[in-house]
Amino acid sequence: MTVVEPSTQTSPGYRPVADTALQSIGNTPLVPLQRLTAGLRARILVKLEYFNPTGSYKDRMALAMVEEAEKRGEIRPAETTIVEYTGGSTGSSLSFVCAVKGYQLRIVTSDAFSEEKIRTMTSMGAEVVVVRSVGGKITPDLMPRIIDRTRRLAEADGTYWTDQFNNKDNAVGQRTMGREILAQTGGSVDAFVASVGTAGCAMGVARVLKDHSKEIKVYVVEPSTSAVISGGEPGTHGIEGIALGFAPPLLDRELYDAALVVDEGEARDTARRLAVEEGIFAGTSTGANVLAALRVAREHGGDITIVTPAVDSGLKYISTDLFPRVL
Ligand SMILES: Cc1ncc(COP(=O)(O)O)c(C=O)c1O
Repeated sequence: MTVVEPSTQTSPGYRPVADTALQSIGNTPLVPLQRLTAGLRARILVKLEYFNPTGSYKDRMALAMVEEAEKRGEIRPAETTIVEYTGGSTGSSLSFVCAVKGYQLRIVTSDAFSEEKIRTMTSMGAEVVVVRSVGGKITPDLMPRIIDRTRRLAEADGTYWTDQFNNKDNAVGQRTMGREILAQTGGSVDAFVASVGTAGCAMGVARVLKDHSKEIKVYVVEPSTSAVISGGEPGTHGIEGIALGFAPPLLDRELYDAALVVDEGEARDTARRLAVEEGIFAGTSTGANVLAALRVAREHGGDITIVTPAVDSGLKYISTDLFPRVL
Protein backbone atom coordinates (compact mmCIF):
# COMPACT_ATOMS: atom_id res chain seq x y z
CA MET A 1 0.00 0.00 0.00
CA THR A 2 1.28 3.47 -0.81
CA VAL A 3 0.33 6.23 1.63
CA VAL A 4 0.63 9.73 0.31
CA GLU A 5 1.15 12.17 3.18
CA PRO A 6 -0.06 15.75 2.84
CA SER A 7 2.89 17.87 1.87
CA THR A 8 4.29 20.27 4.45
CA GLN A 9 6.58 21.75 1.84
CA THR A 10 5.63 24.97 0.07
CA SER A 11 5.18 24.07 -3.57
CA PRO A 12 7.73 25.90 -5.70
CA GLY A 13 4.79 27.23 -7.72
CA TYR A 14 3.20 29.02 -4.75
CA ARG A 15 4.27 32.31 -3.33
CA PRO A 16 4.88 32.38 0.43
CA VAL A 17 2.94 34.85 2.63
CA ALA A 18 3.97 38.32 1.50
CA ASP A 19 5.14 41.18 3.72
CA THR A 20 2.73 43.60 1.99
CA ALA A 21 0.51 43.79 -1.11
CA LEU A 22 3.43 45.43 -2.92
CA GLN A 23 5.00 42.00 -3.34
CA SER A 24 2.15 41.04 -5.67
CA ILE A 25 3.73 43.25 -8.34
CA GLY A 26 5.46 41.44 -11.20
CA ASN A 27 6.20 37.78 -11.88
CA THR A 28 3.48 37.78 -14.57
CA PRO A 29 2.72 34.92 -17.01
CA LEU A 30 4.14 34.76 -20.54
CA VAL A 31 1.82 33.02 -22.99
CA PRO A 32 2.03 32.21 -26.72
CA LEU A 33 -0.55 33.43 -29.20
CA GLN A 34 -2.33 30.44 -30.68
CA ARG A 35 -4.71 31.68 -33.37
CA LEU A 36 -3.63 35.17 -34.42
CA THR A 37 -0.29 33.72 -35.51
CA ALA A 38 -1.88 31.15 -37.85
CA GLY A 39 0.26 30.77 -40.98
CA LEU A 40 3.29 32.44 -39.38
CA ARG A 41 6.47 30.64 -38.38
CA ALA A 42 7.23 33.04 -35.56
CA ARG A 43 6.20 32.51 -31.96
CA ILE A 44 4.64 35.59 -30.33
CA LEU A 45 4.73 35.54 -26.53
CA VAL A 46 2.48 37.95 -24.65
CA LYS A 47 3.52 39.06 -21.16
CA LEU A 48 0.23 39.26 -19.26
CA GLU A 49 0.90 42.42 -17.31
CA TYR A 50 -2.74 42.72 -16.29
CA PHE A 51 -1.87 40.21 -13.56
CA ASN A 52 -0.31 43.11 -11.66
CA PRO A 53 -2.40 44.37 -8.69
CA THR A 54 -3.97 47.37 -10.46
CA GLY A 55 -4.17 45.47 -13.74
CA SER A 56 -1.27 47.22 -15.49
CA TYR A 57 2.52 47.12 -15.88
CA LYS A 58 2.64 50.62 -14.45
CA ASP A 59 2.66 49.07 -10.96
CA ARG A 60 6.30 48.18 -11.58
CA MET A 61 7.37 51.75 -12.31
CA ALA A 62 5.19 53.35 -9.59
CA LEU A 63 6.87 51.16 -6.99
CA ALA A 64 10.33 52.01 -8.33
CA MET A 65 9.64 55.77 -8.51
CA VAL A 66 8.56 55.78 -4.85
CA GLU A 67 11.16 53.36 -3.47
CA GLU A 68 14.12 54.86 -5.32
CA ALA A 69 13.15 58.32 -3.96
CA GLU A 70 12.85 56.80 -0.47
CA LYS A 71 16.33 55.28 -0.81
CA ARG A 72 17.72 58.71 -1.71
CA GLY A 73 16.00 60.13 1.41
CA GLU A 74 13.86 62.49 -0.70
CA ILE A 75 10.44 61.39 0.61
CA ARG A 76 8.85 60.00 3.80
CA PRO A 77 5.30 58.68 4.21
CA ALA A 78 4.14 60.95 7.01
CA GLU A 79 5.69 64.08 5.49
CA THR A 80 5.47 63.95 1.71
CA THR A 81 2.56 64.44 -0.67
CA ILE A 82 3.28 62.81 -4.01
CA VAL A 83 2.08 64.64 -7.14
CA GLU A 84 1.79 63.28 -10.69
CA TYR A 85 -0.05 63.79 -13.97
CA THR A 86 -1.24 60.69 -15.73
CA GLY A 87 -3.51 59.18 -18.33
CA GLY A 88 -4.78 57.04 -15.51
CA SER A 89 -2.63 53.92 -15.41
CA THR A 90 0.30 55.48 -13.57
CA GLY A 91 -2.18 57.25 -11.29
CA SER A 92 -3.88 53.96 -10.44
CA SER A 93 -0.52 52.34 -9.75
CA LEU A 94 0.72 55.25 -7.63
CA SER A 95 -2.58 55.20 -5.72
CA PHE A 96 -1.95 51.55 -4.90
CA VAL A 97 1.67 52.08 -3.83
CA CYS A 98 0.79 55.20 -1.81
CA ALA A 99 -2.13 53.42 -0.10
CA VAL A 100 0.16 50.60 1.02
CA LYS A 101 2.96 52.91 2.14
CA GLY A 102 0.79 55.68 3.62
CA TYR A 103 1.60 58.62 1.32
CA GLN A 104 -0.86 61.38 0.38
CA LEU A 105 -1.27 61.52 -3.41
CA ARG A 106 -2.52 64.27 -5.74
CA ILE A 107 -3.19 63.31 -9.36
CA VAL A 108 -3.89 65.50 -12.39
CA THR A 109 -5.66 63.67 -15.22
CA SER A 110 -8.32 64.23 -17.88
CA ASP A 111 -11.73 63.01 -18.98
CA ALA A 112 -9.99 61.87 -22.21
CA PHE A 113 -9.02 58.78 -20.21
CA SER A 114 -11.34 56.05 -19.03
CA GLU A 115 -13.58 56.59 -16.02
CA GLU A 116 -12.49 53.25 -14.57
CA LYS A 117 -8.96 54.59 -14.13
CA ILE A 118 -10.10 57.81 -12.46
CA ARG A 119 -12.36 55.89 -10.09
CA THR A 120 -9.57 53.45 -9.29
CA MET A 121 -7.46 56.40 -8.13
CA THR A 122 -10.16 57.98 -5.97
CA SER A 123 -11.14 54.57 -4.57
CA MET A 124 -7.61 54.10 -3.28
CA GLY A 125 -7.56 57.50 -1.62
CA ALA A 126 -5.96 59.78 -4.23
CA GLU A 127 -7.12 63.37 -4.66
CA VAL A 128 -7.83 63.84 -8.39
CA VAL A 129 -7.93 67.02 -10.51
CA VAL A 130 -9.66 66.45 -13.89
CA VAL A 131 -8.61 68.70 -16.80
CA ARG A 132 -11.41 68.82 -19.38
CA SER A 133 -10.56 67.50 -22.87
CA VAL A 134 -12.07 68.49 -26.22
CA GLY A 135 -14.57 65.78 -27.09
CA GLY A 136 -12.87 63.12 -24.95
CA LYS A 137 -9.88 62.98 -27.34
CA ILE A 138 -6.13 63.22 -26.75
CA THR A 139 -5.45 66.47 -28.65
CA PRO A 140 -1.99 68.11 -28.84
CA ASP A 141 -2.97 70.87 -26.38
CA LEU A 142 -4.17 68.46 -23.69
CA MET A 143 -0.86 67.38 -22.15
CA PRO A 144 0.57 70.94 -21.91
CA ARG A 145 -2.55 71.98 -19.96
CA ILE A 146 -2.26 68.96 -17.66
CA ILE A 147 1.47 69.51 -17.12
CA ASP A 148 0.91 73.19 -16.31
CA ARG A 149 -1.66 72.30 -13.63
CA THR A 150 0.69 69.69 -12.17
CA ARG A 151 3.63 72.07 -12.07
CA ARG A 152 1.56 74.50 -10.01
CA LEU A 153 0.53 71.74 -7.57
CA ALA A 154 4.15 70.62 -7.25
CA GLU A 155 5.20 74.09 -6.03
CA ALA A 156 3.58 73.46 -2.62
CA ASP A 157 5.92 72.67 0.28
CA GLY A 158 6.32 68.97 1.13
CA THR A 159 5.38 67.73 -2.35
CA TYR A 160 7.37 65.33 -4.53
CA TRP A 161 6.54 65.27 -8.25
CA THR A 162 7.36 61.77 -9.52
CA ASP A 163 7.47 63.28 -13.05
CA GLN A 164 7.19 59.95 -14.87
CA PHE A 165 8.24 61.37 -18.26
CA ASN A 166 11.60 62.59 -16.96
CA ASN A 167 12.18 60.15 -14.13
CA LYS A 168 14.80 57.46 -14.86
CA ASP A 169 13.37 55.38 -11.98
CA ASN A 170 10.39 54.71 -14.27
CA ALA A 171 12.56 52.68 -16.69
CA VAL A 172 14.50 51.16 -13.77
CA GLY A 173 11.20 49.73 -12.46
CA GLN A 174 10.41 48.20 -15.85
CA ARG A 175 13.75 46.37 -15.97
CA THR A 176 12.09 43.76 -13.74
CA MET A 177 9.92 42.86 -16.74
CA GLY A 178 13.01 42.41 -18.89
CA ARG A 179 14.63 40.11 -16.31
CA GLU A 180 11.45 38.03 -16.08
CA ILE A 181 11.28 37.69 -19.89
CA LEU A 182 14.87 36.41 -20.00
CA ALA A 183 14.20 33.96 -17.16
CA GLN A 184 10.92 32.72 -18.66
CA THR A 185 12.32 32.20 -22.16
CA GLY A 186 15.71 30.93 -21.04
CA GLY A 187 17.16 33.96 -22.81
CA SER A 188 15.85 32.90 -26.17
CA VAL A 189 14.19 36.10 -27.45
CA ASP A 190 14.68 37.68 -30.87
CA ALA A 191 12.52 40.79 -30.59
CA PHE A 192 10.58 42.93 -28.13
CA VAL A 193 7.75 45.20 -29.26
CA ALA A 194 6.20 47.97 -27.10
CA SER A 195 4.08 51.04 -27.66
CA VAL A 196 5.43 54.22 -26.13
CA GLY A 197 4.01 56.73 -23.70
CA THR A 198 6.83 57.69 -21.34
CA ALA A 199 8.98 54.95 -22.99
CA GLY A 200 9.67 53.54 -19.51
CA CYS A 201 8.58 50.05 -20.49
CA ALA A 202 10.29 49.96 -23.90
CA MET A 203 13.55 51.40 -22.56
CA GLY A 204 13.60 49.49 -19.26
CA VAL A 205 13.08 46.16 -20.98
CA ALA A 206 15.38 47.08 -23.89
CA ARG A 207 18.24 47.83 -21.50
CA VAL A 208 18.05 44.35 -19.98
CA LEU A 209 17.53 42.51 -23.29
CA LYS A 210 20.29 44.35 -25.12
CA ASP A 211 22.69 43.83 -22.21
CA HIS A 212 21.90 40.12 -22.60
CA SER A 213 22.37 40.13 -26.38
CA LYS A 214 22.91 42.94 -28.87
CA GLU A 215 21.15 40.72 -31.42
CA ILE A 216 17.74 41.21 -29.78
CA LYS A 217 15.72 43.76 -31.74
CA VAL A 218 13.52 46.32 -29.98
CA TYR A 219 10.63 48.01 -31.79
CA VAL A 220 8.68 50.96 -30.43
CA VAL A 221 5.09 51.50 -31.59
CA GLU A 222 3.00 54.61 -32.20
CA PRO A 223 -0.33 55.46 -33.89
CA SER A 224 -0.33 56.80 -37.46
CA THR A 225 -2.19 59.99 -36.56
CA SER A 226 0.46 61.09 -34.03
CA ALA A 227 3.65 59.37 -35.20
CA VAL A 228 6.06 61.87 -33.63
CA ILE A 229 8.92 59.40 -33.06
CA SER A 230 8.84 58.58 -36.78
CA GLY A 231 9.10 62.30 -37.60
CA GLY A 232 5.37 63.02 -37.99
CA GLU A 233 3.32 65.84 -36.53
CA PRO A 234 1.53 65.48 -33.20
CA GLY A 235 -2.12 64.70 -33.80
CA THR A 236 -5.32 63.35 -32.35
CA HIS A 237 -5.92 59.71 -31.45
CA GLY A 238 -7.74 57.56 -28.94
CA ILE A 239 -5.16 55.04 -27.72
CA GLU A 240 -4.86 55.77 -24.02
CA GLY A 241 -1.40 56.01 -22.49
CA ILE A 242 0.70 56.32 -25.65
CA ALA A 243 1.76 58.98 -28.18
CA LEU A 244 1.21 62.10 -26.11
CA GLY A 245 2.37 64.46 -28.85
CA PHE A 246 6.09 64.65 -28.10
CA ALA A 247 9.07 62.28 -28.18
CA PRO A 248 9.45 61.26 -24.52
CA PRO A 249 12.77 62.25 -22.91
CA LEU A 250 13.41 58.67 -21.69
CA LEU A 251 13.40 57.37 -25.28
CA ASP A 252 17.03 56.50 -26.10
CA ARG A 253 17.83 56.09 -29.80
CA GLU A 254 20.59 53.59 -28.88
CA LEU A 255 18.08 51.24 -27.29
CA TYR A 256 15.58 50.64 -30.11
CA ASP A 257 16.00 49.48 -33.68
CA ALA A 258 12.94 50.99 -35.36
CA ALA A 259 9.63 52.75 -34.73
CA LEU A 260 6.55 51.01 -36.13
CA VAL A 261 3.45 52.99 -37.04
CA VAL A 262 0.05 51.32 -36.60
CA ASP A 263 -3.48 52.20 -37.57
CA GLU A 264 -5.67 52.86 -34.53
CA GLY A 265 -8.70 51.08 -36.02
CA GLU A 266 -6.59 47.97 -36.66
CA ALA A 267 -5.17 48.17 -33.12
CA ARG A 268 -8.72 48.23 -31.74
CA ASP A 269 -9.71 45.27 -33.92
CA THR A 270 -6.65 43.40 -32.69
CA ALA A 271 -7.61 44.07 -29.03
CA ARG A 272 -11.07 42.62 -29.79
CA ARG A 273 -9.59 39.61 -31.59
CA LEU A 274 -7.21 39.00 -28.67
CA ALA A 275 -10.20 38.81 -26.34
CA VAL A 276 -12.35 36.57 -28.55
CA GLU A 277 -9.70 34.36 -30.18
CA GLU A 278 -7.01 34.16 -27.50
CA GLY A 279 -8.80 34.92 -24.21
CA ILE A 280 -6.38 37.81 -23.70
CA PHE A 281 -8.65 40.58 -22.41
CA ALA A 282 -6.55 43.73 -22.62
CA GLY A 283 -6.65 47.39 -23.68
CA THR A 284 -6.08 49.30 -26.91
CA SER A 285 -2.34 49.81 -26.54
CA THR A 286 -2.03 46.03 -26.20
CA GLY A 287 -3.90 45.73 -29.50
CA ALA A 288 -1.28 48.09 -31.00
CA ASN A 289 1.55 46.01 -29.53
CA VAL A 290 0.26 42.72 -30.89
CA LEU A 291 -0.60 44.25 -34.27
CA ALA A 292 3.01 45.49 -34.56
CA ALA A 293 4.41 42.15 -33.32
CA LEU A 294 2.40 40.36 -36.02
CA ARG A 295 3.92 42.69 -38.61
CA VAL A 296 7.44 41.96 -37.36
CA ALA A 297 6.66 38.23 -37.56
CA ARG A 298 5.28 38.51 -41.10
CA GLU A 299 8.10 40.70 -42.43
CA HIS A 300 10.81 38.51 -40.92
CA GLY A 301 9.14 35.33 -42.11
CA GLY A 302 11.34 33.07 -39.98
CA ASP A 303 11.17 30.96 -36.90
CA ILE A 304 11.75 33.70 -34.31
CA THR A 305 10.43 34.52 -30.82
CA ILE A 306 8.83 37.92 -30.35
CA VAL A 307 7.73 39.18 -26.92
CA THR A 308 5.22 41.96 -26.35
CA PRO A 309 3.32 43.08 -23.25
CA ALA A 310 -0.42 42.94 -22.64
CA VAL A 311 -0.11 46.33 -20.96
CA ASP A 312 -3.33 46.36 -18.99
CA SER A 313 -6.70 44.73 -18.48
CA GLY A 314 -9.71 45.10 -20.76
CA LEU A 315 -11.70 45.73 -17.58
CA LYS A 316 -10.19 49.23 -17.60
CA TYR A 317 -12.03 49.97 -20.87
CA ILE A 318 -15.52 48.72 -20.10
CA SER A 319 -16.97 52.26 -20.14
CA THR A 320 -15.34 53.03 -23.52
CA ASP A 321 -16.33 51.85 -26.99
CA LEU A 322 -13.40 49.39 -27.28
CA PHE A 323 -15.57 46.37 -26.58
CA PRO A 324 -19.17 45.90 -27.74
CA ARG A 325 -21.89 47.31 -25.52
CA VAL A 326 -24.67 44.96 -24.52
CA LEU A 327 -26.91 47.25 -22.47
C1 LIG B 1 -2.53 51.84 -21.40
C2 LIG B 1 -1.09 52.21 -21.61
N1 LIG B 1 -0.40 51.63 -22.61
C3 LIG B 1 0.88 51.94 -22.84
C4 LIG B 1 1.55 52.88 -22.08
C5 LIG B 1 2.96 53.22 -22.41
O1 LIG B 1 3.87 52.81 -21.40
P1 LIG B 1 5.20 53.63 -21.14
O2 LIG B 1 4.78 54.90 -20.43
O3 LIG B 1 6.03 52.76 -20.27
O4 LIG B 1 5.82 53.93 -22.44
C6 LIG B 1 0.87 53.50 -21.03
C7 LIG B 1 1.52 54.51 -20.22
O5 LIG B 1 0.86 55.23 -19.47
C8 LIG B 1 -0.48 53.16 -20.78
O6 LIG B 1 -1.19 53.73 -19.82
